[in-house]
Amino acid sequence: MPHADTPTTIRHDADWWRQAVIYQIYPRSFADSDGDGVGDLPGITSRLHHLAELGVDAVWLSPFYPSQLADGGYDVADHRDVDPRLGTLDDFDAMVAEADRLGLRIMVDIVPNHSSDRHVWFQEALAAAPGSAARARYVFRDGRGPDGELPPTDWPSSFGGPAWTRVPDGQWYLHLYAPQQPDFDWDNPEVREDFHTTLRFWADRGVAGFRVDVAHGLAKDLREPLRDLGEERGYEPDALPLDGSHPLWDRDAVHDVYRGWRRVFDAYDPPRFAVAEAWVRASRRTAYASAEGLGQAFNFDFLGARLDAVELRAVIGSALDDARRAGATSTWVLSNHDVARHVSRYALPPGSAKRDVEEWLLTDGRDPAPDLPSGARKARAAALLMLALPGSAYVYQGEELGLPEVADLDRADLQDPMWVRSGGRVKGRDGCRVPLPWTREGTSFGFGPGGSWLPQPADWGTYAAEAQRGDGDSFLELYRAALRLRRALVTDEALEWACSEEETRRGLLRFARTGGWHTVSNLSDSAVPLPPGEVLLASGPLSGDRLPPWTTAWLRTGAASAR
Ligand code: GLC
Repeated sequence: MPHADTPTTIRHDADWWRQAVIYQIYPRSFADSDGDGVGDLPGITSRLHHLAELGVDAVWLSPFYPSQLADGGYDVADHRDVDPRLGTLDDFDAMVAEADRLGLRIMVDIVPNHSSDRHVWFQEALAAAPGSAARARYVFRDGRGPDGELPPTDWPSSFGGPAWTRVPDGQWYLHLYAPQQPDFDWDNPEVREDFHTTLRFWADRGVAGFRVDVAHGLAKDLREPLRDLGEERGYEPDALPLDGSHPLWDRDAVHDVYRGWRRVFDAYDPPRFAVAEAWVRASRRTAYASAEGLGQAFNFDFLGARLDAVELRAVIGSALDDARRAGATSTWVLSNHDVARHVSRYALPPGSAKRDVEEWLLTDGRDPAPDLPSGARKARAAALLMLALPGSAYVYQGEELGLPEVADLDRADLQDPMWVRSGGRVKGRDGCRVPLPWTREGTSFGFGPGGSWLPQPADWGTYAAEAQRGDGDSFLELYRAALRLRRALVTDEALEWACSEEETRRGLLRFARTGGWHTVSNLSDSAVPLPPGEVLLASGPLSGDRLPPWTTAWLRTGAASAR
């Protein structure tokens, strides 16, 4: 049943998401309408035309719910309301209506693993006695040791430190993230029912889909006695067992939750869509992405890969196979609110891995010195590669402007709990969350009429949308041209490699999509011959019939099909 006041008409194409371009907004950093330095919903509404001009299909909003911002809004105090600093539910409805007018769909972030400790349920749990129904919505346990002074298990928080915090009456509660993010007990039917209500609440307001936070974490093994993790304490997705036997992550029972959600989604016309944030082994992703489950699952292997042709060819191949097995399409992601921006990642020495990026951030981005022009060139080549692949491309706000990571934020300004909880070993994710520049000059470069909650670099205005619009060499115009063409070129979901493994070992990726659309990426330091055909778009200047180093081109060849 549509929400009475929402004039939305979600277009009736149940498969819209399969090859959509979805733009991620981090609401506090997108646009600020009232000058308090924090982005808000009216700010988003006022800038939606930028996204329509960019040519995306949908917008995913990271959390805008009431929150004390212990984890950038992923600590949700009320899953069915808007943080007063960001607006009201009426502002939300106005945003959906404007998006609808512009032909954009809205997706919201659902955070089901935990709430904020300010959530009314957690406040009730604290006030209630051990063993009460109020505590049973969360995971409260007695501690170990003679006086229960030791945490119930050795489980670690993903942000550092133990995953348990003690309350005044001596019990401990579980939080796989910050202490302000108590985990729900998903064996409790009341929790399950409440999230169905939340999903319907947003679907009724015209939301087309959901991004599901920590989708692989809900179903914990909470049978007594709780199991210590011992050697398994370090959580690396690639080391998780393939049989779902880890006590915390990727347990099979989680799919029972999503089968219930699927019934909620399918009661709508068109059915609501969802994408899982599930950091699991590739072969286990299928279950999250299945048609009985959430429908799609993020594949972070592309994001995690180096810009290396052999590695990318393998990642692309297996992502397409996995998605096909699930009956879904793959996702492609280069950046999001949890990782250093890829222009900067690619500006580090070739071969830099996640750990190297973390260490680099700790030097405030000085050592090694990033080669930003090279990073930008590579990011442009990667963008045209990503946008040519079959499946959904997720674009993180500012990526279309070519923003680099702000690596030199002052330690006193850092807000990410990772920084404090890791004891200063991890600088955290603030550097990709710095508010966007919209104008060359002016207060907070057009972000809003006041300042900005994280300081913007002095040269931020050179990246502004205003500075790039109309400049054919800019990032923004490259993304716009690519999205316009993509819309015209995409027909089906087929991809056929058009280069040999040997060529790929030399840095070449070339594939065909149906209709004679070829993509060729030269991920090497030497120019290569450009295949014959009409050049539709290139990530950098071409020199005659050569494809320069670190460049991607889209071509139209005579051949009519991918096969
Ligand atoms: C997800 C979010 C991240 C958040 C965490 C806990 O990984 O993307 O930003 O910190 O969940 O909710």
